[in-house]
Amino acid sequence: MPNAYISGTGFFVPPNVVSNDQLINDFNIDTTNEWIVQRTGIEERRFVDNGVGPSDLAVCAAEQAIANAGISKHDIGMIVFATLSPEHSFPGSGVHLQRKLGLCDGADATFVPALDVRNQCSGFLYGLATASSMVQSGNVKHVLLVGAEVHSHALDLSTRGRTVATLFGDGAGAVVVSATDEDRGVRGWWLGADGRHADVLTQKIWDTRQKPFIPLDEQGVGQVHPEMMFAQMDGKLVFRNAVERMIGALFTAYSKKGLTHEQIDLFFFHQANLRINQYVADQLKIPHDKLVSNIQRYGNTTAATIPILLAEAVESGRLKKGMKIAMVAFGAGFTWGSAVVDW
Ligand code: UT7
Repeated sequence: MPNAYISGTGFFVPPNVVSNDQLINDFNIDTTNEWIVQRTGIEERRFVDNGVGPSDLAVCAAEQAIANAGISKHDIGMIVFATLSPEHSFPGSGVHLQRKLGLCDGADATFVPALDVRNQCSGFLYGLATASSMVQSGNVKHVLLVGAEVHSHALDLSTRGRTVATLFGDGAGAVVVSATDEDRGVRGWWLGADGRHADVLTQKIWDTRQKPFIPLDEQGVGQVHPEMMFAQMDGKLVFRNAVERMIGALFTAYSKKGLTHEQIDLFFFHQANLRINQYVADQLKIPHDKLVSNIQRYGNTTAATIPILLAEAVESGRLKKGMKIAMVAFGAGFTWGSAVVDW
């Protein structure tokens, strides 16, 4: 059985930087820079221009990851696309990425399978579990795994929506997961979910239990109430569960692999809130300098946070071959996961 390792990383964030003060000045949101920084650590985030979707961000990140893996796009055997903000209800963003990468063009067309992962902030780790299993099974040599989100077009950028709207940003991260005979790569992954909390963090938009699934006005035009259109969150409950589940997911990884935090060189935590991550680190006595963070600059990019972190850490030289890393995520569902990788 081959090992599955991350052979290439890439990321792309849109150039438009939106500071906390711009949320106040441009969108008239009743908040302060101090409130956002103190509660979350976020100083700014990126917003896409009109007309840009998650697969547009993903294609830039993916091309970088493929180039850094030293392979051709035609070597990719499968696409796994994690997002909670696909362009449309269906099909998922994976097929859009496949087409934009030029994998259905001309004589070189590979028509690789495209799988969409719908696990919100844990999407990258659910995707990594899927991609590494595909590679280890021997069925696929190189899987392109992407996390990409366009949140800004679906945020309630007003005082009414401030609890959620101040937290999220747009971006994409990608990795190539490849087969190797070397003694390295994904050493294990552990996933979990608790469906009792499915309504605690949710963006419903429509309800297919109802007929019609979106209420209609007299002209037959769909009317989406803001509570359905925009994400709703019980922040404190999410915070408490995030801390508990992230600690649990790390403990599971430690116990399954006989590890302590001293043996882990770097920790890549999902970037939802700097305070959550520092609290988790403090409970486990992980030194803060082992935490890789970028929430200050990008906010919460959901499925994209961990692959962006990885790509930045590789690019800056902080993450090097031979290091042992741990990744942990928690998000809506609730869903969570952890993974240990020998880089
Ligand atoms: O990606 C995974 C999912 N997301 C998370 O993991 C997020 C987890 N939760 C959190 O990070 C925190 O709960 C938040 C940062 C979202 C909120 O922090 P909090 O300390 O739990 O605040 P709160 O929601 O309890 O609100 C406290 C006060 C409220 O005012 P009152 O009722 O005390 O007068 C809110 O209306 O802060 C108010 N508030 C704001 N004030 C200024 C809420 N959002 C804002 C805001 N600016 N953006």
